Order: sequence, then C-alpha cells, then structure tokens
Amino acid sequence: AHLQPQMDESSILRRADCRAKGGSPGFKVAILGAAGGIGQPLAMLMKMNPLVSVLHLYDVVNSPGVTADLSHMDTGAVVRGFLGQPQLESALTGMDLVIIPAGVPRKPGMTRDDLFNINAGIVKTLCEGVAKCCPNAIVNLISNPVNSTVPIAAEVFKKAGTYDPKRLLGVTTLDIVRANTFVAEVLGLDPREVNVPVVGGHSGVTILPLLSQVKPPSSFTPEETEYLTNRIQNGGTEVVEAKAGAGSATLSMAYAAVKFADACLRGLRGDAGVVECAFVASEVTELPFFATKVRLGRTGAEEVYQLGPLNEYERVGLEKAKEELAGSIQKGIAFIKK
Ligand code: NAI
Repeated sequence: AHLQPQMDESSILRRADCRAKGGSPGFKVAILGAAGGIGQPLAMLMKMNPLVSVLHLYDVVNSPGVTADLSHMDTGAVVRGFLGQPQLESALTGMDLVIIPAGVPRKPGMTRDDLFNINAGIVKTLCEGVAKCCPNAIVNLISNPVNSTVPIAAEVFKKAGTYDPKRLLGVTTLDIVRANTFVAEVLGLDPREVNVPVVGGHSGVTILPLLSQVKPPSSFTPEETEYLTNRIQNGGTEVVEAKAGAGSATLSMAYAAVKFADACLRGLRGDAGVVECAFVASEVTELPFFATKVRLGRTGAEEVYQLGPLNEYERVGLEKAKEELAGSIQKGIAFIKK
C-alpha cells in the first residue's frame, strides 16, 4: 500500500493563513458556478493569483472534479470544492470576495433579458447565502442580465439588512476589454496601451463606450465611431453566433473577471489608485444603478466617478441607454418585491 498524504482542513487553512501573515496578503475567494464555461477558466486564473490564499469552488454539478484538477497546480492558493445547495454555506463562510458566474448563458437569437427567468432565481438564492454567511464580502456579479441581477442582489441584501452598496459590483469589464481591443485595432496600437471607458450597463444599447475619452487621446471619424460603438455593443453576440448554440463568451470573460477581481483584491489590500468600470449603485444619473469608473479600496467601490464631458453622439447614446436600463433595473427590483 502506498502512503496517502493527509492534510486535514485546519492544517490546510493554517498553511494558507501562515502564508498570508508572511507578507503576501492571502484573501479568501469563492466562485459560485465554478464548473461552468466561465467558472472553470476563472477558477484556474484565480488559482494562479498570488493574492489568493484560499479558493472555494461551488457549483451544483462537477465541482469535485474541477477542484481535484486545479488542486494539483503548484501555486499558493488552497482549493476546496463544494457541491450543491447543502454545501453553499460552507463554501461562503469566511470569504473576502465572492465571484458569481452561475446561471445559463445565451444561445443565438436570445437577448440577455431572455435569461432573466432562470438566472434571477439562481442569483437570489446565492445572494441569500452571501447575506447569511459572509455579509462583509465584496460581490462580483457576472450572471446575466447584469442590469437586472445587480438590483436583485441589492434587494436581497436590503431584506437581510446587510446591504452595503460599495460591496456589490456588477462586472462589465468584458465590455472594456473588447473596447480596448477593437479601438486598438482601428488606431493601430497595442491594446495594452489603450483605455476606453465604457459606461451605462451590460446589454445592447446600455453598453456606452466613451470614445471621446479614449486614452491615449484619439479622434475618430463618424464612420469609425459608428463601427466601434456597434461592435462593442454587439461583441457578446459576435461570440454567441460563432459558438452557434454552444454558449457565450467564456474565455475572454474569465480573463475579464480575473482582471476585475484582481483589482478588487488590490483595493482590499489598500493599494492606491485602483480604478475600473463597474455597474454599481450610483447617483451619477437619475437611475439607482449605473456603470462608470469607480475607485476600489478597502471597503469596495469607495468612489463613483462622474461621466466627464460627452460629445453629441454620446449624449444621444446616453439617453437610449438610460431608457433601456430603467426598465431592466425595475424588473430586477420587482422580482424580489413581488
Ligand atoms: P455555463 O452554463 O457554462 O455555466 C454556468 C454554471 O452555473 C454551470 O456550471 C451550472 O451548473 C452553474 N449553476 C447553475 N445553477 C446554479 C446554482 N443554483 N448555483 C450554483 N451554480 C449554478 O454558463 P457560462 O457560459 O459560464 O455563463 C454563466 C453566466 O455568465 C451566464 O448568465 C452568462 O450570461 C453570464 N455572462 C456574463 C458576462 C458579463 O460580461 N457579465 C459575459 C458572459 C457571460
């Protein structure tokens, strides 16, 4: 018989805590929906993130396999798997950051709103768990339609008496990632040098790229503006159609989710000047939620930035975005209040 190396839960967590005390700030991160198309590459990238000491992988299927697989990677984070509703509370207890990509993705011909009926209930259940087991955690909500699931989460937290708007962030980073890529192509630049603010929400016309604020400062012809705005707004559909029924963006989304989660962890650590776009509770417009640049700090989204100067094209886009967003936000709130 060969020796089976054994480490119980407490010694594993001691190891992670020790590492945290030894300089590297170990954060505890849970991924809910970790066995999915986004969840798996997201879990892998988080297992590689030096800011993570403990990684909890929760799903209603296949999380033991994903956990066993990732646990063999020789990176610092300790990975634990949790399967099904009875294990949700253990998955969430003690977490600093909870990333939620649970839910069904789009198929060709579907809008993000078509996902509402299934995903609204999933997000509600998972957020009730967060309110109960880790009410101080930062939540990164990926499940679509983000324009409605963030208001749903807010209502769940309000009901539970744990709502802190700074800690609830809808992930729109993929829109910025796409915008940087497509704008860099037009400008003939390396995408790593380009920064495009994308505001509003995360669906169709609510995705509003502010090309007048691109860094480095650039100007675009009306044709370029039209092409880029359309492509950024429909980037998700481009992938849904190419995948032809097999789902929506997963790999670029996992990359974007980790870019955003890493920014949240750097904020939690106390790094200065961490700024990303996110869909948050907001007073920037008359709507209760809106995506803009936010500054991430020890308590979450500590500062929500104003839109800055818009050109005429963007002002028209803003009005369209607000009209659609208002309905999606209301739909989310009504789902919990009904
Ligand atoms: P997928 O179907 O491949 O994976 C979803 C995972 O969620 C599955 O493993 C499933 O078992 C799990 N799940 C279902 N119900 C659950 C529950 N009650 N608790 C825990 N886990 C549960 O879907 P994919 O491609 O990973 O997409 C996930 C979500 O992310 C979709 O809603 C999609 O629309 C959204 N999305 C959001 C983006 C954004 O920019 N915010 C971009 C791309 C997708």
